[in-house]
Amino acid sequence: MEGVASGEYVCIKALENGVSVIGMTRGRDTRLHHTEKLDKGEVMLAQFTESVSAIKIHGRARVYCAHGEFESGAE
Ligand code: TRP
Repeated sequence: MEGVASGEYVCIKALENGVSVIGMTRGRDTRLHHTEKLDKGEVMLAQFTESVSAIKIHGRARVYCAHGEFESGAE
């Protein structure tokens, strides 16, 4: 079922260069699935899938999703 996506999108906008968006695997084992690097101003739209249930953001970014808007990283 690799690649089956939920309908909801998460939007991540990098506020500095070198922001990492790290997908974590779904299920009992939590492993890194994929890392995407974003530079300042770049925007990524993503969905959770059968294989990814969580994301970790390293660096300053603004996140827009159904749970609200928030920022990651130090000011
Ligand atoms: N493999 C875990 C899961 O599917 C991934 C995960 C989701 C997770 N939420 C988490 C890991 C919170 C650590 C903390 O549930």
